[in-house]
Amino acid sequence: MKLILLGAPGAGKGTQAEIICDKYNIPAFSTGNILREAVKNETETGLKAKEYMDAGALVPDEVVIAVIRERLEEPDAQAGFILDGVPRTVAQAEALEQMGVDISRVININVSDEDIVKRLSGRRVCETCGASYHTIYKPSKQPNICDRCNGRLIVRKDDEPSTILARLKTYHEQTEPLIEFYRKRGKLAEVEGAEDLSETTARVAKVLEALE
Ligand code: AP5
Repeated sequence: MKLILLGAPGAGKGTQAEIICDKYNIPAFSTGNILREAVKNETETGLKAKEYMDAGALVPDEVVIAVIRERLEEPDAQAGFILDGVPRTVAQAEALEQMGVDISRVININVSDEDIVKRLSGRRVCETCGASYHTIYKPSKQPNICDRCNGRLIVRKDDEPSTILARLKTYHEQTEPLIEFYRKRGKLAEVEGAEDLSETTARVAKVLEALE
C-alpha cells in the first residue's frame, strides 16, 4: 500500500497517518517532521529549510525531493508507506513519478479554511515524539502531557495566527493544483474531514478497505 495524504495544513493528514500506520503496520513519512528534526539538529538541510518554515512558505523543491528520495530508499519503505505532506507541488509529484513510485491511492482530506484556523490554533504537539493533540477535539489524558511518551506538549512555532494564514495561502496557490493532477491519473479519493475525528477516520478506512 503506497498512499499519499493530501490536504490543507491542519486538515488532519498527520492524525490519519498515525491511525493508518498502526492499523496496517506501514511507516508514515512526514516531510514536515523530517524537516523539523533537521532544523532542531541544525543539519545542512535544516539550515536551508528553517526560514521558509518559519514564514509558512514551502521549502524549495530540490531540498524536499532529495529528502524524500533518500527516505524512500530505506529498507522499511519497500513494502509500502504513507506520504504525509509530500508532494506539495506539481514538481514534487512529477519527481515521485520519475523515481518510479507507483502510488496506490491519493486521499484528499477536505476542510474549510475557517475550520483549519480553529484546528491549528488548538493543536498541541509532543516535543519528544511528535504526537499531535487538540485542546478540544483530541485532548491528552493529562493536560499538556503526551499519552504515548509523557513528553511535554507545546504549540508549534508555525501555528501562530499570522503564519497559519500564510500557510493557507501557500496551500491554495501551490498544493491545491495536485487535486486535479491526481484526479486526471485516476488516483484521487475525496474525504470530508468532518469535525468529528472518528468520522473522518471511518471515511478514510472505507477508501482503504477498497484497496485490500
Ligand atoms: P507540515 O508539518 O507538513 O505541516 P502542514 O501540512 O501544514 O500540516 P500540519 O502538520 O500542520 O497538519 P495536518 O494536516 O497533519 O493536521 P493534524 O493531523 O496535525 O509542514 C510544515 C512546514 O514544513 C511547511 O509549512 C513547509 O514549510 C515545510 N514542508 C513540509 N513538507 C514540505 C514539502 N513537501 N514541500 C515543501 N515544504 C514542505 O491536525 C491538525 C489539528 O486538528 C490537530 O490538533 C488534530 O488533533 C485536529 N484534528 C485532526 N483531524 C480532526 C478532525 N477530523 N476533527 C477535528 N479535529 C481534528
